[in-house]
Amino acid sequence: MKDSELNGTGIGFRMEHADEVLLQNPNIPWFEILIDNYMSENAPLSVIDKLAENYPISFHGVGLSIGSIEPVDYHYLAKLCELKDRWQPKLISDHFAWTHTANHRFHELLPVVLDVKNMNYLSDKICRVQDFMGEQILMENASTYIEAPAEMNEWEFINQICSASGCGLLLDINNIHVNAFNHGFDATEYIEGIDLSNVKEIHIAGYEDRGNYYFDSHSQPVAKEVWDSFARVLGEIPEIPTLLEWDNDLPELNVLINEVEKAEKIRCLVTSPSTPKLIAI
Ligand SMILES: [Fe+2]
Repeated sequence: MKDSELNGTGIGFRMEHADEVLLQNPNIPWFEILIDNYMSENAPLSVIDKLAENYPISFHGVGLSIGSIEPVDYHYLAKLCELKDRWQPKLISDHFAWTHTANHRFHELLPVVLDVKNMNYLSDKICRVQDFMGEQILMENASTYIEAPAEMNEWEFINQICSASGCGLLLDINNIHVNAFNHGFDATEYIEGIDLSNVKEIHIAGYEDRGNYYFDSHSQPVAKEVWDSFARVLGEIPEIPTLLEWDNDLPELNVLINEVEKAEKIRCLVTSPSTPKLIAI
């Protein structure tokens, strides 16, 4: 297992900010790139060549579809390896979800069945992926809007898979709160139940409150309850690199940098020896 070499809070790289980022080199510690956007023939690889020269980067994917009944897609992994060799990402991640079958792409992260059979199935597939990639990958808890059949809690399911496969956990704290509201569980219970020793990266983002459900829109400032949980988690694992996701209604880069500064202020607060363990932000 390699150290991530990522520090502090990074930002998801978006083409709308490319000129500003590449010409002005703003003080942002690292960038995540949505790697599936760079797998097509005419993808703007030279933009990421430049980005990777100036900043540490991570790969975040949606194409692994680990929960699908289809076998591991080695063509997809070969492309991922090609880009890994080109840009040397510090971390590679995808989701506990499925996005396609052999015949259809859903363009959604669909929930996985939370039972022992599927736990073993996913663990085995993740092992195969890591063997091919030659490194640990991170898997993220996804936001969902329908509940798949379950014989255990999601956090127990994830703990067991991390333990069996050796994968790391990308803990998306916003997704915990989205799912807690949508499926009626206690976000605090999730955070207390998840094995934080598996967490290698944190995601924070803003959701949209649509009345009877939360939508993981990545289009808003981070919600107060997410900041509170972030502080609680950082109190236990203060050095874990964090990524601010903002994909829709994309604001000026400065708005994102302000959110990054808020995250780092919280990190400083929770690591200060004079701060009580559980702080209210
Ligand atoms: Fe996320």
